[in-house]
Amino acid sequence: MTDLSRRPALPRPSQTKVQQSFRRGLDSYHQAATHQADIAAQLGHRLSDLAPKHLGRVLEFGAGTGHLTQQITKRLSIETLWINDLVPESAGFAPPEATFLPGPIETLVLPGKLDLICSASTVQWIEDLPGTIKRLCAHLAPGGWIALSGFGAAQFHELRELGSTAAAPSYVDAEAWRDVLPSDMTIKHLSQGRQVAWFADARALLRHLRETGVNGGASQHWGPQALKTFESDYRRRFGTPQGLPLTYDPVWVIARKS
Ligand SMILES: C[S@@+](CC[C@H](N)C(=O)[O-])C[C@H]1O[C@@H](n2cnc3c(N)ncnc32)[C@H](O)[C@@H]1O
Repeated sequence: MTDLSRRPALPRPSQTKVQQSFRRGLDSYHQAATHQADIAAQLGHRLSDLAPKHLGRVLEFGAGTGHLTQQITKRLSIETLWINDLVPESAGFAPPEATFLPGPIETLVLPGKLDLICSASTVQWIEDLPGTIKRLCAHLAPGGWIALSGFGAAQFHELRELGSTAAAPSYVDAEAWRDVLPSDMTIKHLSQGRQVAWFADARALLRHLRETGVNGGASQHWGPQALKTFESDYRRRFGTPQGLPLTYDPVWVIARKS
């Protein structure tokens, strides 16, 4: 098994920024990412309702600080677990019994005959999502499961409407997953549900993005004037007595290979 971990895949240039952003947020992520924690909990819950409780070979990618890892290890009995993340330092959050595989999932050397491939809040960072999902599903054993959460087209729409370049490359609505999954995968669960996070001001909103590492495509530098303009634009366009809203648009998909 260690032969796989000795060959780390290298991030492509545009992934270096994503990697830096998540590495910078690693210490704050677990506490700050309450939406991602809830999304991972819902994925774990739905998966354990559908899949067998005992699974042989399992791969989780984009595991980060382990919100989904905690769910699957708590809810399922797993014989062999591989944990991946683009950020090598995430290895410190993987359970001791797991084998950690660093690097981008797109080019990682994958274990074969997997019974489950799962991932929470990561697929939006994959540029060629259909190609990568096809490759992943090819590594599933017959009857194997894929359980994913991503984000739909309304994810952080406020930021995009204000001209931010922070968008991840693959926001996919629930129904569009039917075209992303290969034809030998049968969908067992598909859902989408918006959640809104509220912030007192733009500074708090930007801190939230920084602490959760989710602004991988955006500039990190905010001068006082830029911050002021962002704050007044955001307030004018979206402000309410409750504060400034930021939309999360999670999507859950669980499918089984024939
Ligand atoms: C929003 S975090 C989600 C972490 C965790 N799964 C959760 O639910 O809290 C996204 C994670 O995906 C990782 N990531 C981003 N692009 C990736 C890629 N191409 N391959 C593997 N991991 C990736 C990041 O480093 C980060 O840890």
